[in-house]
Amino acid sequence: MSLKKQLCIGLTLSSSKKDKENMQMDDNKFYSGIEEQIELAKRAEKAKLDFVFKADYLVAHPDLIARNRGSVILDPTLFFTAIARETKKIGVVTTASTSFNPPYILARQLQSLNWISNGRVGWNIVTSIEGAENFGNEKMPASEERYAKAAECTELVKKLWKSHPYEVLEVDSADAAEVIREMIQPIDHEGNFFHVKGPLNVPEHFSGTMPLFQAGASESGRNFAASVADAIFAATPDIESGIELCKDLKERAQGHGRQPDAIRVLPGLYFFIGDTYEEAQEMYRQANQHLTIERRYALAEMVLGLNLRELALNEKVTANILPDADQAVRSKTHADLLRRFIIKNEPTVEQLLERPEVIGSSHWVAIGTPQEIFQQIMERFEAGALDGFIAIPGGPPKSLDLFFSDVIPLFVEAGVFRKDYVGSTLREHLGIFEA
Ligand SMILES: Cc1cc2nc3c(=O)[nH]c(=O)nc-3n(C[C@H](O)[C@H](O)[C@H](O)COP(=O)(O)O)c2cc1C
Repeated sequence: MSLKKQLCIGLTLSSSKKDKENMQMDDNKFYSGIEEQIELAKRAEKAKLDFVFKADYLVAHPDLIARNRGSVILDPTLFFTAIARETKKIGVVTTASTSFNPPYILARQLQSLNWISNGRVGWNIVTSIEGAENFGNEKMPASEERYAKAAECTELVKKLWKSHPYEVLEVDSADAAEVIREMIQPIDHEGNFFHVKGPLNVPEHFSGTMPLFQAGASESGRNFAASVADAIFAATPDIESGIELCKDLKERAQGHGRQPDAIRVLPGLYFFIGDTYEEAQEMYRQANQHLTIERRYALAEMVLGLNLRELALNEKVTANILPDADQAVRSKTHADLLRRFIIKNEPTVEQLLERPEVIGSSHWVAIGTPQEIFQQIMERFEAGALDGFIAIPGGPPKSLDLFFSDVIPLFVEAGVFRKDYVGSTLREHLGIFEA
């Protein structure tokens, strides 16, 4: 009997004030959210998930800090060194920007984490929406330039990894230095953005090239993903955008001489799970109640430059009020999703201000009982709108408890998710093989 296609499931690690309220605090202990996230990673491993995940931004963003209230936002690659030593099997996918980090440092830190975790690292490659002011640039370079740099940076990081093979560790002879000098050769990279001699000072882990993730789905983002990524962290708020992205990436992958199914498309999934639909809906309402109407207007403006303040709440938003498609935006991915939604649906202002494209980073929002959440995910899986998902817990602790206790077992029962780990590297969990 052939094995059914398997889902890839990742979980975003976070903790917030809610966890703090549920925790018995030791008087002398200042809450940082670190212990809770380690516990969450252990729960995810117990549920045999493919990986835990963290996004990262190189700015102190008040919105982000407010969302993680009470929890310290750390450098994810450093944080994952701790997670890696507290777990044994689960993958750890860290985010690092190619716009701001020197490739030699990226190559070294990621490979160091790969040794610390025993081959469980994935690198989520981002080109970043903001942060240029912290790195000596006045403003963010345009999306195309950021992707050109990302492509060169990624190729260079991979070359650095290969410049120092793990077999070096096995050299055991009197003339070891001579043998090693032959084995670790400079790469002499001279590109448009970087000049790096190499070789790297950390050997590549024997599990091979670490899986590469990517986030950003503009034209240049998709081409970049199709050329190098093993998985993509996608923003697909509805089934149609998921189907379109999966189909498009498969075609582009083939254009780069890769197998059509070489890339796993993994949408972000905010979930709110209750014993009844009404309970889940109430969790969703509470999670968003801090978003005042003014904040929602500001978000619509930030994503697409759309000023809705002059319109009545029941007025329709139509294509003719959309700003020019060529205007500079923070993220083309997010702007295009909102633009397409408006053109297709002509929502009222009120409906628009409820949409994930405005209030939820364009991630899919799933609300319901465990059975309903299971069905919604399976519907998209079977329709070719996803290969898995990266769960972003949204509601109170109960919602997450139900995700582990009820939703994951439903996938196992349906034969689309593992009962136990077969391998012990992230590459094995994702079922991807080196080309
Ligand atoms: C789902 C998703 C997640 C992202 N996560 C991050 C992140 O964690 N850190 C970051 O700096 N940029 C992040 N980005 C921004 C992208 O790396 C990229 O810079 C941005 O989307 C612009 O690329 P585009 O022109 O392809 O849209 C994310 C983008 C998307 C779509």
